[in-house]
Amino acid sequence: MIKYLGSKRKLVPRIVGLAQAIPGARTALDLFTGTTRVAQGLKRAGFMVTANDLASYSEVLAQAYIAADARAVDVAAVEAMLAELNALPGVRGYFTRTFCEDARYVQPANGMRVDAIRGRIETITADATERAILLAALLEATDRVDSTTGLQMAYLKQWSARSHRPLRLRLPILLDGAGRALRLDAREAVTLLGQYDVAYLDPPYNQHSYYRNYHVWETLVRGDAPPAYGVARKREDCRTTRSVFNARAGAAERALGEVLAAVPARHVILSFSDEGFVSLDALRAMLQARFGDVAAVPVPSKRYVGAKIGIYSTDGSLVGAPGHLMNTEWLFVAGPDAAGISARADGVALAEVA
Ligand SMILES: C[S@@+](CC[C@H](N)C(=O)[O-])C[C@H]1O[C@@H](n2cnc3c(N)ncnc32)[C@H](O)[C@@H]1O
Repeated sequence: MIKYLGSKRKLVPRIVGLAQAIPGARTALDLFTGTTRVAQGLKRAGFMVTANDLASYSEVLAQAYIAADARAVDVAAVEAMLAELNALPGVRGYFTRTFCEDARYVQPANGMRVDAIRGRIETITADATERAILLAALLEATDRVDSTTGLQMAYLKQWSARSHRPLRLRLPILLDGAGRALRLDAREAVTLLGQYDVAYLDPPYNQHSYYRNYHVWETLVRGDAPPAYGVARKREDCRTTRSVFNARAGAAERALGEVLAAVPARHVILSFSDEGFVSLDALRAMLQARFGDVAAVPVPSKRYVGAKIGIYSTDGSLVGAPGHLMNTEWLFVAGPDAAGISARADGVALAEVA
């Protein structure tokens, strides 16, 4: 899985445990799915899952890991395609010039292989699922040899150790069972979708834009060649592409309120940070207004690596001191018998919301 800010890697068992503790729950909606980690956990646990996100890279991951049924994939054919792609000689294209020469996210030798492989993926198969699996494999392989701290607003001054390794595509670990992958604004998705037993919501909680933080993945998956700007060589449309969940001044809170009021689910599990734009009291109030019962589980967590190492300018000098290292991620459960569900899920100390 790719490195991703706010990825719920460590929380997946808890979130899946909560979903499993909901009596009779079989269908799940992951509305801000990102890496699809949570959606994958839910699918592994036997849920029929729909995974949604605004990002193109996220949609590809969802097509490969959530929508594709491993039993229906011709694994031998995909393995043969991966072998062909791994053997391709590099070509110097947009990815190499923009992200390996103008910027330094990936070593040029690997970047040239990314260009060659990305081009060949367009012709190697006519099957949409196979294409998504190959793109997911390329995304993950590129992530394994990148030279960043996990964000694409900047790259490391010195090449990372992993960037010296040759890029190698691997078959993604596909899961049995069908699901759905969507690329919709969450506010639109909740008005279009049918009913789910449980919805998991993990919206952005501050001003940091996922579109800008992962612009290299967006470009790699789209396979386009937009004008790029700044030291980070961000795609031009990063200047204008905004998520309302990154907005201040109440807009994010209103948008989340809209989503919670319309989300087509009997129960909701919501992740939010105590450092977010929306206060925990406001979240509780919105959840109570729609679902009645609400329980909240605090989960102390380590902050983004930048908080630990400080902020550096492009010439490598320290311009921002390291911040505090821990914050609290809250897991809210809302819907009938929320407190009972939380208690059954893991028996951890609960702060029941009055
Ligand atoms: C905190 S991350 C989710 C991380 C995910 N739970 C994981 O474990 O990988 C928030 C996600 O919301 C997506 N997003 C931002 N605005 C959105 C919107 N309006 N509708 C749908 N998704 C959005 C971002 O692309 C990002 O992937």
